[in-house]
Amino acid sequence: MTRRIRKAVFPVAGLGTRFLPATKTVPKEMLPVIDRPLIQYAVDEAIDAGCDTLVFITNRYKHAVADYFDKAYELEDKLERAGKHEQLEMVRNPLPAHVRAIFVTQPEALGLGHAVLCAKEVVGDEPFAVLLPDDLIWNRGGASALKQMADHAEASGAGVIAVQNVPRDKTSSYGIVDIEGFSDRHGAIRNMVEKPRPEDAPSTLAVVGRYVLPPEIFASLENTGRGSGGEIQLTDAIADLIARGGRFDAYRFQGTRFDCGAHIGLIEATIRFALDHETLSEAARESMQRALDELGVAEN
Ligand code: UTP
Repeated sequence: MTRRIRKAVFPVAGLGTRFLPATKTVPKEMLPVIDRPLIQYAVDEAIDAGCDTLVFITNRYKHAVADYFDKAYELEDKLERAGKHEQLEMVRNPLPAHVRAIFVTQPEALGLGHAVLCAKEVVGDEPFAVLLPDDLIWNRGGASALKQMADHAEASGAGVIAVQNVPRDKTSSYGIVDIEGFSDRHGAIRNMVEKPRPEDAPSTLAVVGRYVLPPEIFASLENTGRGSGGEIQLTDAIADLIARGGRFDAYRFQGTRFDCGAHIGLIEATIRFALDHETLSEAARESMQRALDELGVAEN
């Protein structure tokens, strides 16, 4: 696999139950960190990595994601008349001119693996990326996580899975990789273990929601039965390819990952982005300090 990835798949058809009741009407991927929805951060990352075709796997309730990337005539007209040029630019060009968005419906929420399989016809016979937008990865001023992975995939010819180090007592919350020849940045995956107990975990490198996959993954997904939770699991299909000699590298990207699929992760991302914000940082800092003081938390 030495071709540069051009296509990025965004599985956004999950139910987002952890953010109910908000996600009753607002898709999880549309939850904002400051003023941009999670999906926008993931899309920017894919474009930074060189992707020009964005494939969104949605469900029939998630019009908001498609609407977000569509034209908003009335709003644009109003902003234009009001002379609000800065805001107008923000809504007018959600994607650069060379990038196209394609929407595919996942008829039933049968799991992440099934969602990726829904992209088969659009992706065809070439390597591609999968990004889970609720994993927000921030690499201040540096190359995006997916760009780092795409460079590695191109150079190595391997499929690439993003990993991050987690404390050993947290391994049971993650998929953990068993690797060999780890260079401190990447290593070949021997196996992946779902949510192992700390004493059974083969490493402390946990799988994060960024993948560069070969097209052979589709045949593997077609043959993958329902795994844990009755869902078709992407990790089962990858494990199957590895067992049949496929090469996948775990890649420890540079950057910080926020798990915005969980409450605390979204809070952390918001705090971090606010503290780093061009115009909001001072007010954010003061407000956080005030909140800590009022709650009686000592400064040091
Ligand atoms: P999650 O495991 O986070 O599930 O899915 P979820 O439904 O989104 O959220 P919770 O756990 O109920 O709160 C991981 C990714 O896979 C997508 C989700 O949209 C998310 O990006 N997914 C999951 C699908 O696209 N289809 C599915 O059938 C399942």
